[in-house]
Amino acid sequence: MRSRIAVLASGGGSNLQAILDHFDQLGERRGGDVVLVASDREDAGALERAHRREIPLAVLATKARPDGASLSAVLAEHRVELIVLAGYLRLVPEDVVRAYEGRIINVHPALLPSFGGPGMYGQRVHRAVIDAGARITGVTVHFVDREYDRGRIIAQWPVPVFAADDAGTLATRVLRVEHLLFPRVVNAVAAGRITLANCAGAANGAIVDARPAFTLLPHEESRLAENIELTLGL
Ligand code: GRF
Repeated sequence: MRSRIAVLASGGGSNLQAILDHFDQLGERRGGDVVLVASDREDAGALERAHRREIPLAVLATKARPDGASLSAVLAEHRVELIVLAGYLRLVPEDVVRAYEGRIINVHPALLPSFGGPGMYGQRVHRAVIDAGARITGVTVHFVDREYDRGRIIAQWPVPVFAADDAGTLATRVLRVEHLLFPRVVNAVAAGRITLANCAGAANGAIVDARPAFTLLPHEESRLAENIELTLGL
């Protein structure tokens, strides 16, 4: 199965680029093709990246620019089967969420349900993580529903917070993991391997559990104690 994908982005589009590069690497084994890139900002870097790849573009209607394209119309025009939010800052309209239930996914630069919700985007997220004194943050990829950052979680990956971090250094470390995790989840959903139904819980066996994220962490008691002491500076 190979899905027709629309990527929605409001910003620079580094996650879009990571998805395009990953699909290039996969070649014929890729699970989807990006057939549309849409943005609520005509100056979004993501549109520039798509233009360079000759991918059809759309600048969406907003209150400030009601003459922009209607999202549901451009999705129909390009026969889109999967919607990928890659730094898209607006709530997806109710009619699109209904029409594409289980076929809209988003990446968030923190471990949801913490540090998510309205207004939690960009450096604000990392600022909040640091201000909360959290020692571990990470990346979350989830299905999208009617609320910001509330849909069913598909995959998460942990990222350490270092004492010297500011929002910028933390954002860079998290983004690096986004560029590795998100394209692989997009590909698995586009290929039909992961669905809203089969990621509903361990019972269905398809849950993407986090054990691999911790395989790097030694399990032997002694090594674990050693590392905990190292972390605690003991
Ligand atoms: C990423 O950190 C993503 O998690 C968040 O917005 C940022 C978009 O970055 N939702 P880019 O436009 O993909 O570079």
